Amino acid sequence: MKRILVVGGGSIGERHARCFLNTGQAEVSLCETRQDVRERLAENYKLSNVFSAFDAALEAEFDGAVICTPAHLHILMATQLAKRGVGLLIEKPLSTSPHGVDQLAELIESQNLPVSIAYVMRQHPALHAIKVAIDSGRFGRPVQMVYSGGQHFPFYRPAYRETYYTRHETGGGAIQDALTHMVNAAEWLVGPVTRLVADAEHCVLEGVDVEDTVHLITRHRSVPGSFSLNQHQPANESTLTILCERGSVRYEGHHASWSSCVEPDSDWQIEEQFSLERDDLLVLQARAFLSQLDGHSEAACSLAEGLQTLRVNLAALESVDTESWKHL
Ligand SMILES: NC(=O)c1ccc[n+]([C@@H]2O[C@H](COP(=O)([O-])OP(=O)(O)OC[C@H]3O[C@@H](n4cnc5c(N)ncnc54)[C@H](O)[C@@H]3O)[C@@H](O)[C@H]2O)c1
Repeated sequence: MKRILVVGGGSIGERHARCFLNTGQAEVSLCETRQDVRERLAENYKLSNVFSAFDAALEAEFDGAVICTPAHLHILMATQLAKRGVGLLIEKPLSTSPHGVDQLAELIESQNLPVSIAYVMRQHPALHAIKVAIDSGRFGRPVQMVYSGGQHFPFYRPAYRETYYTRHETGGGAIQDALTHMVNAAEWLVGPVTRLVADAEHCVLEGVDVEDTVHLITRHRSVPGSFSLNQHQPANESTLTILCERGSVRYEGHHASWSSCVEPDSDWQIEEQFSLERDDLLVLQARAFLSQLDGHSEAACSLAEGLQTLRVNLAALESVDTESWKHL
């Protein structure tokens, strides 16, 4: 059994606590500043220990910590935990600025600490299969990437007005909150973004003024890409298409499937369709992190990859503000 500390018991922290417990390989403790949240989680889950302050949690012994506080707190908390030799699973986005990331990277390297960024799409079996197919050369070299997706954020997160989502400084808005998942997935599949231009607008979501609609044009070295995402459409859809020299592959999140199309004028052929329950990806992520703590596997998403996607988030925000291309 590994001793896991969940820091921040909000929406995703509660899910991490539940999913780590579901692995049957972890004892879970919680650090949460809000009394009502602490009490509710302590009532609903078999928690080993509950802390009301981060400093108190730092005094206890843990094998790993899952940092689930708003993004502007991630690096500060990760650094303090790393100083005590605790392995880290850090929620996305890595942060809201690159400040302190180099120091954290040095600490991690000097202690050979297991660290992963919780970009949960890395656990999706359909994206995994696409990664294997692309890397095997089955469809030839990727030459273009197109993403389109959206969902009704208030339906899934009714309390969004009372969370980090309301401000860029705390990790809010569609670019840092939602688009970052698919940017990270695309970077994993076709390579890092090297330049971009973005347009974004607050179109619909009530009670906030951050962007809920984004268009992003990217270059992943030689591969041109584009992303279009909103957080207000009724349909929950997510489609990532990678066009390669000898055919195209497509991920459809709403069908948990991937397909290919190689003959001109032919239909998409479903390669695989998966049956996923709501917590499945998080349980897979918990298992992957526990395996990393044991030294049996590499980070699902490394600190360096998390930092690269953080740079994309910040460049996209700056591009919107300045109405200009940004080079990374
Ligand atoms: N991977 C995903 O699919 C996913 C989904 C949702 C959120 N997230 C990310 O996870 C992070 C948290 O998101 P959320 O939706 O759970 O937010 P949330 O607001 O629901 O929860 C954050 C919690 O952290 C607590 N907190 C704040 N400061 C603290 C401190 N100093 N010590 C202890 N607890 C503290 C708050 O009281 C709150 O309960 C964000 O970075 C967000 O982008 C990831």
